Amino acid sequence: MKVAVVGAAGGIGQPLSLLLKLSPLVDELSLYDLFHTPGISADLNHIDTGAKVAGYLADENGFEGALSNADLVIIPAGVPRKPGMTRDDLFNLNGGIISNIAENCARYCPNANILVISNPVNSTVAIVAEVFKKHGVFNPRRLFGVTTLDLVRSNSFISQLSKDKLKSNELNVQVIGGHSGETIVPIFSHNSNKSLVEFYNSLNSEQRDTLIHRVQFGGDEVVAAKKGTGSATLSMAYSGFRLAENIIKAINGEENIIESSFINLNGDIQGSREVKNYINTKGFTEVEYISLPVKLGPRGVESIEYDILNNINSNEEELLSVALSQLSNNISKGVNFVRGA
Ligand code: NAI
Repeated sequence: MKVAVVGAAGGIGQPLSLLLKLSPLVDELSLYDLFHTPGISADLNHIDTGAKVAGYLADENGFEGALSNADLVIIPAGVPRKPGMTRDDLFNLNGGIISNIAENCARYCPNANILVISNPVNSTVAIVAEVFKKHGVFNPRRLFGVTTLDLVRSNSFISQLSKDKLKSNELNVQVIGGHSGETIVPIFSHNSNKSLVEFYNSLNSEQRDTLIHRVQFGGDEVVAAKKGTGSATLSMAYSGFRLAENIIKAINGEENIIESSFINLNGDIQGSREVKNYINTKGFTEVEYISLPVKLGPRGVESIEYDILNNINSNEEELLSVALSQLSNNISKGVNFVRGA
């Protein structure tokens, strides 16, 4: 199992690389960045776990060495937010970086699973897809926008609100839509954990709104607390690793692994049609990409667990309607970035 991290020297890239080096599921870890990767890989190789680490820089053969034969490519390359910035403000900075990385993935590892962390995820995923389409190698089952941090935050925030009566490590709140502000729609009203739903239902409407707002804008808390030095890195590394680990387990044949991710709806993935029908029936804005729980398998995304859409309450439906209209613009921006280029 070869995993490549592109942007490996950054705030997310370094702790993410450490977690991957600690995983018994990873045999080879390649670290690509403009700076520092030879030093980081020398450091990691002193850890007595199995994965062999190699560092690559942006020289002639950097991408080829880092990406060839990769099963997974995780991309946290780019610029993070400063206070006052939205994720969309990063588009002009990160769009070009991501399209260049996607060009190289299309060339050196067209069949790898690509996990996009770089923001704005709502647009950068579409950029990767368009570049892959241009090269005739796009496989929607293998492209993942990483939204896991929104699920992780939802678990933590409702647990904190319950004063730890709900144990965060026993929760699995679903979050649908996209990955920025109002496109993030946490679903607290429906969950297999009945204590969670009971607790949520016991909150008054102001408390519920505050909780949902905290999930939608949770990233801003970290950006403000870091006072201009970056955004979430450690919680993001944890979240990216969680998704990567689950994809690897599914590749290895483990069954019934369900994770949420921002994925393309236009492939022949089971459940795509049902999601589109739901959106049409409700009269919401049509989108080509959405974050939903998906079942993972050796081929990547096996199916979309769309049933959640039939179980959300009317408030969550309204939030989803707002989310989809914003999402559609974010996605078009990514698509046009490549098609207009
Ligand atoms: P950082 O600035 O600490 O690290 C970014 C790294 O990317 C740097 O080491 C830089 O040298 C590298 N880089 C820049 N251009 C590159 C290129 N062309 N090729 C290879 N590497 C390149 O930033 P941080 O905090 O690690 O964040 C990275 C990205 O992740 C940002 O876009 C941020 O907004 C996003 N992010 C996404 C989250 C999510 O939930 N999906 C959560 C938090 C951050």
